[in-house]
Amino acid sequence: MAKIELKNISKIFPNGVEAVKNVSFSAEDGEFIVLVGPSGCGKTTILRMIAGLEEITEGELLFDGKIVNNFEPKARNIGMVFQEYALYPHLTVFENIAFPLNILKKTDKSLSKEKIKNQVLEIAEQLELTQLLKRKPKELSGGQRQRVALGRAIIRQPNFFLFDEPLSNLDAKLRVLMRQEIISLQRKYGITSIYVTHDQTEAMTMGTKIAVMKDGVLQQFDTPFEIYNNPANIFVADFIGSPQINFFDGIFNETHFTENNSDFKIDNSSLNIAKKIKNHSKYILALRPENIKIGKNFDYGFVNFSTVVENVEFLGNELIIYFRTGNTSKRIKTFPNQSIKVGDLIDCHFNTNSLLFFSQEGARGG
Ligand SMILES: Nc1ncnc2c1ncn2[C@@H]1O[C@H](COP(=O)(O)OP(=O)(O)O)[C@@H](O)[C@H]1O
Ligand SMILES: [Mg+2]
Repeated sequence: MAKIELKNISKIFPNGVEAVKNVSFSAEDGEFIVLVGPSGCGKTTILRMIAGLEEITEGELLFDGKIVNNFEPKARNIGMVFQEYALYPHLTVFENIAFPLNILKKTDKSLSKEKIKNQVLEIAEQLELTQLLKRKPKELSGGQRQRVALGRAIIRQPNFFLFDEPLSNLDAKLRVLMRQEIISLQRKYGITSIYVTHDQTEAMTMGTKIAVMKDGVLQQFDTPFEIYNNPANIFVADFIGSPQINFFDGIFNETHFTENNSDFKIDNSSLNIAKKIKNHSKYILALRPENIKIGKNFDYGFVNFSTVVENVEFLGNELIIYFRTGNTSKRIKTFPNQSIKVGDLIDCHFNTNSLLFFSQEGARGG
């Protein structure tokens, strides 16, 4: 068993920066947790506190139920993989992977040269590095270097893996490939992992659970499905999902919701929720781009509207249509359709069940 628990963890740096504020979440045995959020939101600081490289200002860090706040980094038995994989340039692939064991060998006499060699060969085989063992890092591609870094982290048989944006230096295609590789390796070894990224696609595709951070504060901790379909607040709704979710900022009266500075209206009679909404209350409604459909639908619960196409992006398997209501640009994600052109007036509809309601302050509700 290997469980990581953060209980009300805060970090204030000596210069007064509050990088992490009262964060709690846990990684169960074998889970792959993704910590996601914009640059500067405290992701690396959290990882460094877990690794013991940064002191915890307040709160408790537990491994398998045991408080480890004051454990030395070495005693935590963590494998770390960073963006700058920091391979030793003068060592071969073999020597790079063997490096942690060669260090251990100095104190652990049971580790023979033969044993180390066998372990390196086994890991090289799994990572498809067998043919490259004699090469130096500069003779490797980015993906191969990344695999060597993974091998070096695995060989110590760590209790936990911590990843800090390990793929951000790779090109888009390789990133997708390495994503799969990291996940299948992690599954194979079942090592509890925390993976940091600013990329919401990585978070959605890799995480068993996602922790969304903003300004040092944990916004939501849940499965990718819940994060996408039930975002806790406007920040999460906006950060997760591509293309970005649409927001309609406006006000309800007895009969309608009207978007500010816009002729976009929703008849209250189509909203199951309308009875609960107070007259003159301000709301921000959100709607995923794939939930807006082309054409008309007059069934109960649907809203129809017409709009002018401002831009189209053809992505091969899908089409993104941009339109504008009120002061903001909005997006529809639909099937490729060669007849839709910039400047066209198109009919659209959506089911009001797919609307998310937020207060002016950004909290979920309604
Ligand atoms: N050693 C440090 N001293 C002071 N402030 C720091 C230090 N390290 C990071 N910070 C600040 O803490 C905040 C969080 O940083 P970081 O954890 O690196 O964010 P992220 O990894 O999400 O980009 C930022 O405002 C950053 O400037
Ligand atoms: Mg960082």
